[in-house]
Amino acid sequence: MELREVIGRRRSIRFVRPYQPVEPWKIQMMLEAARIASHWGNVQSLNAVVVCRDSAPQSTLDALQAPVAGWQIRFAPVIIVWYIDTAAVDVQSDRLRELVDVGALGFGPKEQRREALEKQIFPIFEGIREGLKQPGLGEVDCGQGIAQATLMAYELGLGTCCLGTPNGDAIRAGLGMPESCRVLVLQTVGYPAEHWEAGGQRPRRPFESLFHLNEYGKAFPRDPEVVETLRRDKMFTRPAPLPGREEELAYLKQAMGLKGTGLL
Ligand SMILES: Cc1cc2nc3c(=O)[nH]c(=O)nc-3n(C[C@H](O)[C@H](O)[C@H](O)COP(=O)(O)O)c2cc1C
Repeated sequence: MELREVIGRRRSIRFVRPYQPVEPWKIQMMLEAARIASHWGNVQSLNAVVVCRDSAPQSTLDALQAPVAGWQIRFAPVIIVWYIDTAAVDVQSDRLRELVDVGALGFGPKEQRREALEKQIFPIFEGIREGLKQPGLGEVDCGQGIAQATLMAYELGLGTCCLGTPNGDAIRAGLGMPESCRVLVLQTVGYPAEHWEAGGQRPRRPFESLFHLNEYGKAFPRDPEVVETLRRDKMFTRPAPLPGREEELAYLKQAMGLKGTGLL
């Protein structure tokens, strides 16, 4: 599948087949994609614990909770607990040395680059190290990694859904992670039980209200020809709601024995 089509087909898939396990190599491919995502200073603070429903202790499964549509956790064969390990910032200097050594940062003779790193760059980071462990830049690069893993999952025929949780501390403790870790999001993974369109591409705020040109408030012009190209390349697909979606939801609810409205 081409990149634009993968981006276009991706949906939060909430209904997965509970009876179909996910091959470990596919999860590995997701993790490999996350690992090579871009990270500030190449710090790589994104980590994950992969929880497999078949083999995880019940106490681990019980610790995984999310308030909105958290029922998905009970059906997914795999739940990836994505977390940031802020301790990675403590060894950031090593990551920067690697970048300079391989020629990915700076230019000119290598010895001079190394010296500039030690004398000019490290003092800058010295003063802001603890601040860099706070929510912010680290979360941005973790998001990039999770996004790459998500697109890989779609390319492999898997469905995923991210679930936010206020239960991060309990999950951290339940999984035995050190205190330097912050749980970011739970990602359910499984084979979709719903049609790939999942009722259509979800509504979004207007392009012009999101993106600006040169200054705030001046909309970035949206060229209809570009939109048409992306539609042809399958990045834009049929928008929600699609005909038959309500019937599909009713069918899935009954087939999976779900109760209530599915919002909790
Ligand atoms: C970081 C993150 C957290 C999310 N948390 C939840 C959640 O707690 N519960 C939920 O049902 N969906 C959650 N979602 C899924 C969003 O509701 C979904 O992405 C949004 O409705 C857009 O739909 P789409 O992903 O199919 O394009 C989350 C998505 C992201 C990226």
